[in-house]
Amino acid sequence: MEELERLLSANKTEGDEGENKLRPKTLDSYIGQEKVKQNLAVFMASAKKRGETLDHVLLYGPPGLGKTTLSHIIASEMGAGLRMTTGPAVERPADLASILTNLQRGEVLFIDEIHRLNPTVEEILYSAMEDGSLDIVIGKGPTARTMRIPLEPFTLVGATTKAGMLSAPLRDRFGMVFRLELYSKEELKDIVNRSAGILDIEITPEAALEIAGRSRGTPRIANRLLKRIRDFAEYENSGIVDLEIAKKGLKRLEVDALGLDMTDINILRTIIEKFNGGPVGLETLAASTGEDAGTIEDVYEPYLLQLGFIARTPRGRTCTQAAYKHLGIKLFNPSLFDEEPETEE
Ligand SMILES: Nc1ncnc2c1ncn2[C@@H]1O[C@H](COP(=O)(O)OP(=O)(O)OP(=O)(O)O)[C@@H](O)[C@H]1O
Ligand SMILES: [Mg+2]
Repeated sequence: MEELERLLSANKTEGDEGENKLRPKTLDSYIGQEKVKQNLAVFMASAKKRGETLDHVLLYGPPGLGKTTLSHIIASEMGAGLRMTTGPAVERPADLASILTNLQRGEVLFIDEIHRLNPTVEEILYSAMEDGSLDIVIGKGPTARTMRIPLEPFTLVGATTKAGMLSAPLRDRFGMVFRLELYSKEELKDIVNRSAGILDIEITPEAALEIAGRSRGTPRIANRLLKRIRDFAEYENSGIVDLEIAKKGLKRLEVDALGLDMTDINILRTIIEKFNGGPVGLETLAASTGEDAGTIEDVYEPYLLQLGFIARTPRGRTCTQAAYKHLGIKLFNPSLFDEEPETEE
């Protein structure tokens, strides 16, 4: 039992800085991701109407966009208990078997970083997801036999930043696959205002918009910037976050006008200065910037792509004219932009 507790508390430490306090609790208070919300609302309502558990859900997208938050919401909207663990915490098939056999009827099992499940553990999930049973092989060789243990119906919610790393058999067993998108500036402004309300921070509309525009499309970053700027406001004046304080604070935090930080700038400058604007392969870029390739791909690239500062080509990443302009660097390889922009895909 202690072992089970450990497995299921594997990501309880997540959400320092009071992240839990800022999580919306209902689908209605979850801002943005309209397509995902609309579809989920329909599927949840019809499952409830039929008195069934919700089909398995896969959530994927860059970090900090609200996957964990959404798993809480799914459980609470379905009136179901939530059990949480992470891919790397479930080391052996027996670990997963113990989690699954202890689930109550209708419960939601959230597996974060599901792409990191050990393949032998993952296999156990197949029959659990498909037939609602555990197939366990007992013994070895000619005397080996399979034992089938029925499970209570449950909903698996898997989250990953790397949908591409999920095996096809696992991906195919999810009844719903939702991709979370970077948030718009307007949506982030609403999130900043909502969080300010919860944290009792007085903020002007201009300041909220300024923070929103520098949050890289990511609620977690918006909330973090809001808290740090509140600290500046309390230190410098009455604690009210206005545009002046926001701009000053963001400058001190080394967040530029578009929300780019030192690492983004380093990535762009490396492509431009060391590789003449690209193309450069991801691994080479990682080695030259000293960043991890996975981190570049999951954390930095989505926003740089959204800004149109980099493009992915079959031969690697290139910097676009917009990136040169933002950094105030003159093009030293103008021929790079002779092609039509569409061919950069
Ligand atoms: N749609 C939203 N509306 C309001 N706040 C949100 C929304 N999505 C996320 N947040 C806020 O952003 C924070 C981060 O969200 P969450 O932890 O769910 O992200 P995540 O996708 O699970 O990230 P990771 O991939 O790092 O696990 C939460 O504290 C929550 O308050
Ligand atoms: Mg999470």
